[in-house]
Amino acid sequence: MSDNAPLLEARNLEKSYEMPKGRVEVLKGVSMRIEAGEQVCIMGASGAGKSTLLHLLGGLDTPGAGEMFAEGQPFHAWPESRRSAFRARRIGIVFQSYHLMPDLNVLENVLMPVRALRRWGSPGPRARGEARRLLERVGLGHRLTHRPMELSGGEQQRVAIARALINDPDILLADEPTGNLDADTGNRVLDDLFALSRERKRCLVIVTHDPALASRCQRVVYLEDGRMVSSKTHLPFANETAIAHSAEIPTDDT
Ligand SMILES: Nc1ncnc2c1ncn2[C@@H]1O[C@H](COP(=O)(O)OP(=O)(O)OP(=O)(O)O)[C@@H](O)[C@H]1O
Ligand SMILES: [Mg+2]
Repeated sequence: MSDNAPLLEARNLEKSYEMPKGRVEVLKGVSMRIEAGEQVCIMGASGAGKSTLLHLLGGLDTPGAGEMFAEGQPFHAWPESRRSAFRARRIGIVFQSYHLMPDLNVLENVLMPVRALRRWGSPGPRARGEARRLLERVGLGHRLTHRPMELSGGEQQRVAIARALINDPDILLADEPTGNLDADTGNRVLDDLFALSRERKRCLVIVTHDPALASRCQRVVYLEDGRMVSSKTHLPFANETAIAHSAEIPTDDT
């Protein structure tokens, strides 16, 4: 690990998809730095490339051009096996469409990252206890043996959140993590995520269309036409909308 290197850094990321009707250019040179303990929100119109960027930040996909660094190390150039080991140990991801395993029950789904960390060995009683605790915390203690298709969308979303937290990651990447939750449940889940981020100096990167959620983050970046158009810096750990909107300093890639 390099001294003073940010936890994650993207430099001039480009990503495009070759389609039968031509190339779709999604990211056209996005740079951002994410420090340990930061709470960053990514906003932008539907189709702007937010999920694409989140997947690159999590090392789930590789950029067409540009570089990704994890603690100063060239993450983008690592072989997939090294990237996935880093991901299992350090990164939790809540996917926009959850990506739960349909043949596994709720408890087994939450334990998947533990299995990945143990090279597919069986999770021990401690990990099982932690999975139950997390599921109870998101209000699903009574659904442990259900399969994903036997759950509502919001319940599946909460399983995905518990799964992302099971290895106690330094970095939580969450793609519209409360998009399917009612206001009360969503707020409870968010209170937990923000508390965890503050107490344990965990870094939280959230994609959302919800301005109220954005205002709880220290920093908001906007994607537009494949570029990061602005970045608002909020006060550290400002959770009040009024305080959060009081500081507006352009930083990344503006
Ligand atoms: N696998 C793929 N193949 C081709 N095009 C893709 C692929 N994945 C994404 N795209 C295109 O990239 C663009 C950005 O998609 P992305 O999912 O990142 O958007 P988003 O900002 O997350 O949108 P939303 O707010 O609707 O979730 C879209 O126009 C989409 O059609
Ligand atoms: Mg998306």
